[in-house]
Amino acid sequence: MLTAEENETLTRVGPGTAMGRMMWRFWLPIATTAQVPEPDSDPLQANLLGQSFVVFRDSSGVVGVLDELCMHRGVSLALGRVEDGGVRCLYHGWKFGVDGAILDTPNHCSDRFRKRMKAPAYPVVEAGGLVWTYIGPKKQQPPFPHLPFMDVPEENRAVIRANIACNYLQLYEGGVDSSHVGVLHSNQANPTWKAGEFTANDEDDNPGALSVADNAPTLEIEDAAFGFHYVAKRVAEVGDDGIPAHSIRATPVFLPVGRVIPAPTVEFYVFEVPTTDTETATFIVIYGNRPVSRPRFMEMLGLDDERLFDEDTADFLAHRLPRFGQDRRSMATGWTGLRGIQQEDAVLALSMGPVVDRTKEHVVAADRAIMHLRAQLLESVRRNEAGQHPLGLVADYGPMRSPCDTDLEPGRAWRDHVPGNREVTTVEDDEQMATAS
Ligand code: FES
Ligand SMILES: [Fe+2]
Repeated sequence: MLTAEENETLTRVGPGTAMGRMMWRFWLPIATTAQVPEPDSDPLQANLLGQSFVVFRDSSGVVGVLDELCMHRGVSLALGRVEDGGVRCLYHGWKFGVDGAILDTPNHCSDRFRKRMKAPAYPVVEAGGLVWTYIGPKKQQPPFPHLPFMDVPEENRAVIRANIACNYLQLYEGGVDSSHVGVLHSNQANPTWKAGEFTANDEDDNPGALSVADNAPTLEIEDAAFGFHYVAKRVAEVGDDGIPAHSIRATPVFLPVGRVIPAPTVEFYVFEVPTTDTETATFIVIYGNRPVSRPRFMEMLGLDDERLFDEDTADFLAHRLPRFGQDRRSMATGWTGLRGIQQEDAVLALSMGPVVDRTKEHVVAADRAIMHLRAQLLESVRRNEAGQHPLGLVADYGPMRSPCDTDLEPGRAWRDHVPGNREVTTVEDDEQMATAS
């Protein structure tokens, strides 16, 4: 349970809020590469931390992020023409380059004016199928982060975006909530749940497939440079000696909005990026050592369902449907009346309302990772407000791993299975090491 004040601090992300100021210290995804697919393709209106932007790809293929509203008199540049090396406002034709340079002002023939002024523009890097930007203070801009999925060929990666009409924290908390997997995702976790017996789902790319039947995992949590990782320890079987063998599943939670979910052959990187206080852009990147099929994951996530998801706008539509699109008749055989992991997660988060009141909840031991996430986010805000680095500011996430249901041999610690997670260093550590050497 939280105080009303803590809930406000955690959930309000716009300009002028402490959480917004903490989050803008990080590079964040603002769009997928596929949303601005080619030179001079349609511009994209995109919100981030309560501010509105236009994302566009210029004639040479470079992507720019500018304030959405034209600096002349405030018309949306997302309606503009993208051509000849910039985006042109429809109203009076002012044209801007990706760096905010004013390239043309048809109603004001002053070269000096054009050279003296600039439209607000933000640094952009395209990597891993995503467009990343940094909207925080210039002098605090951190190095661009390296994440493992950025290293694989494009065909080994599937990138999905879903805009979900609720606060980011409801979705983020769902992602660090191991005890819901075997219940909410029963159809994936245990295809024979209806018969009251456990059969492991053998899909090796499905993070909802649990290898064992234990729905009350023991959670262990350890802080790391990127935030924390937690391991869900499930009893696999009890040996003749009465000593239980365990299966472990570790989830790195990297602040301020990321987590990694494992499946045997792929990892899912998920970012719950707050676009406004009451809307979230969920970016999911699935990658592995061999080519992956995006349609396969769209189906697994339930995002191939056109009633609930509009692929063109990336909008998740369940909140506009009666009962969030739940099909009660299908509950005779399916657990939720929904279909697919993301569909289930997103509908439940939406059902809490735009921003859930956490003063009314009754948390239990199984919610420990969620409590830890909240505590870290609040601590990160506190540090940032005190002029320190926020928690989890990391430049290289390369060694970070998320082992899927892995047997824990007797006498071995789960930490032995995540050695890379402890090698990750913060930007602050990197700075100190550079100064020392
Ligand atoms: S408002 Fe954009 S050019 Fe005038
Ligand atoms: Fe889930």
